[in-house]
Amino acid sequence: MLRHILNITDFEKSELDQILSVASSIADNPSRYEEVAKGKILATLFFEPSTRTRLSFESAMLRLGGSVIGFSDAACSSSAKGESPQDTARVVSGYCDLMAVRHPQAYIPHQMARLATVPVINAGDGANEHPTQTLTDLVTIHQRFGRLDGLTVGMCGDLKYGRTVHSLIQVLARYPGNRFVLIAPPALQMPREILDCLEKSGVPCTICEDLEAAIPQLDMLYMTRIQAERFEDKAEYASLKGIYVLDREKLAGAKEDMIVMHPLPRVDEIDPGVDADPRAWYFKQTRLGVYARMALMLMLLNITVQGEEGKEACPKFCFEISA
Ligand code: NCD
Repeated sequence: MLRHILNITDFEKSELDQILSVASSIADNPSRYEEVAKGKILATLFFEPSTRTRLSFESAMLRLGGSVIGFSDAACSSSAKGESPQDTARVVSGYCDLMAVRHPQAYIPHQMARLATVPVINAGDGANEHPTQTLTDLVTIHQRFGRLDGLTVGMCGDLKYGRTVHSLIQVLARYPGNRFVLIAPPALQMPREILDCLEKSGVPCTICEDLEAAIPQLDMLYMTRIQAERFEDKAEYASLKGIYVLDREKLAGAKEDMIVMHPLPRVDEIDPGVDADPRAWYFKQTRLGVYARMALMLMLLNITVQGEEGKEACPKFCFEISA
């Protein structure tokens, strides 16, 4: 059966454990993985701008010894001539072993997956989801805390259009003892359907607007960019732009061992003065994303590497990564 990764809920918990474990193995011993995907081809089909997601996918495949094809701008692909994403998926299936798709419209990767004959990975679909950013986030949280449960997680900024937080909250809600503090103005709060799901599952969740008031209780603060490109009403964007800025003064109220994460790119929501603080983990996070994507692609390609079998599930990472 063809396996696609379209939503974060497509993963079983045991698969997330496996990805964390393999990502840590790769980080500990990258040379062991240098040629394991030799002969395999990843296609990156990006109909929307990207720096980290596309390049970290490409870097991940190259570090596994495979190759990469694709486009980074829809204007350079046949979609500019009117080809449907479904036709593109059918055609590109013949050229690769895996495809990673990003599209400005929600659910396009899902539609492409119906016609593809290789696994399709959703690399961000409109304001819907971004499951591989979440894998990056989980690897980062695990690296820092050695666990994914029992955490008070703050999410701040554009929780309405920010696809990364939609995926992240759904997966962290599956781990016991996690609590969420959702910091956003009412116009940018987490979609109702997600809040309803949390409520049904009895996951503790507080909604608030004041970052400074919320920060002292948090173990992790996930900052997000206000998603300018998703607003139909540009005046509404102008009124919300710059609404949250995490600076050194606000960070002074946080726990000493809290971490700040951000999927990046940042605009103005984290002052560069925060970057040197040991609690700033967003640049480390980008590096861990390569290991997360390497582990995911190995799983989808059914490649196991000798020495992984006996590994404890979810070990604490034993490597150090500098900022
Ligand atoms: C995010 C995205 O594309 O959703 N970036 C990323 O993939 N790291 C976040 C954003 O664009 O704000």
